[in-house]
Amino acid sequence: MTGTPAAAAHITIDGQALEVPEGTPLLQAAATLGIEIPTLCYHPNLTPNAICRLCVVEPSRGRTLIPACAVGCFDGLQVSTDSPRVQRA
Ligand code: FES
Repeated sequence: MTGTPAAAAHITIDGQALEVPEGTPLLQAAATLGIEIPTLCYHPNLTPNAICRLCVVEPSRGRTLIPACAVGCFDGLQVSTDSPRVQRA
């Protein structure tokens, strides 16, 4: 028996809309759009620990930058990977 498929999350990265299964790592969603987010501490075979903060992106809502390696996509998520704030970080 198979599990229930994940709900769809409609997200926007750098103005590009994308639909992914909810919980898809943001880093992976960005890669499907050809957007490369730099990483240092991330490894696909390890649990993300978000220590280096090299992969931070700026969400449209919220005050803090979020690590793309440790955040799962949810419906309505909108982020920028190259805003001035991200560049400074
Ligand atoms: S790659 Fe280090 S916090 Fe994301």
